[in-house]
Amino acid sequence: MKQIQWYPGHMAKTKRQLKEKMKQIDVVLELVDARVPFSSMNPIIKDIINKTKRVIVMNKADLADQAHIDMWQTYFTSKNIPSISVNAQHQKTISTIYQLLDDVTKDMKAKAHKRGIDEPIIRVMIVGIPNVGKSTFINKLAGKKKLKIGDKPGVTRQTQFITVTKGLEIMDTPGILWPKFDDEKTALKLALIGSIKDSILPIDNVVIYGLNYLITHKLKKLEEHYNITVTDDIVDVLDQIGRSRGCIQRGNEIDYERVYYLFLHDIRHMAFGPICLDEVSEIETV
Ligand code: G4P
Repeated sequence: MKQIQWYPGHMAKTKRQLKEKMKQIDVVLELVDARVPFSSMNPIIKDIINKTKRVIVMNKADLADQAHIDMWQTYFTSKNIPSISVNAQHQKTISTIYQLLDDVTKDMKAKAHKRGIDEPIIRVMIVGIPNVGKSTFINKLAGKKKLKIGDKPGVTRQTQFITVTKGLEIMDTPGILWPKFDDEKTALKLALIGSIKDSILPIDNVVIYGLNYLITHKLKKLEEHYNITVTDDIVDVLDQIGRSRGCIQRGNEIDYERVYYLFLHDIRHMAFGPICLDEVSEIETV
């Protein structure tokens, strides 16, 4: 997992640079993780984007609960923000994105036609916090074209655009935003899905947050997966998982460290099915 250390100066510089680049951009595809569509946003995105067209792409939809994706899509629509859910690893994503971009740029293209530009070029930039799938997404859209550019010796790392299809160019490098650190719940969610390093928060807190989510939303799956009976005592639940999975250390004690990593692996790899940790009802605005 790539990790960037964010400092206030670094954030200010990133914001400035992105604002500058935005002048060349017609549409921003803001990638978020569909399991946490709100928590994986960066609140300053609105400042950066200004008047550029914003589209929210809920990536990793294969790992997220479809009913929640639908609720989020309805919510974004109510805020006049087009949104879509995709799996950046799938080929089908390309045509889905082309279609969406076609829809959202109709007005822009009509204006260009009026000014006598027959074949306007729409320039797109991908932004998002680390690990939402920006590189995977760009590579999927750009295919081999991206490699061609990167392989040329002496190419400066200035902004480059790749033509992905007629009339459509994407910036070859994504805009990387910092994750929200301000509230603990957001950080717990990001840690739980593996979007920020496990060492950033106390791992037991992350695991307990995840267990409580499952107890509330997916009790049966949790009990079946580990062959346990959930009780009110969360330590007892951890103990049962430990015993059921043989996470035992010397003296017949539960090896909690192993239980924690086992659980995190399981929840991140769909052991309990798709999840969504953000509820539309919890938030105020995007
Ligand atoms: P980034 O540029 O935004 O930082 O993200 P990147 O593309 O590197 O993707 C982060 C991880 O997410 C990668 O896993 C990538 O394969 C995975 N990923 C991207 N899009 C999707 C998707 O739609 N569905 C699923 N299930 N996974 C997706 P990785 O290489 O294993 O990285 P890591 O797990 O070691 O961090």
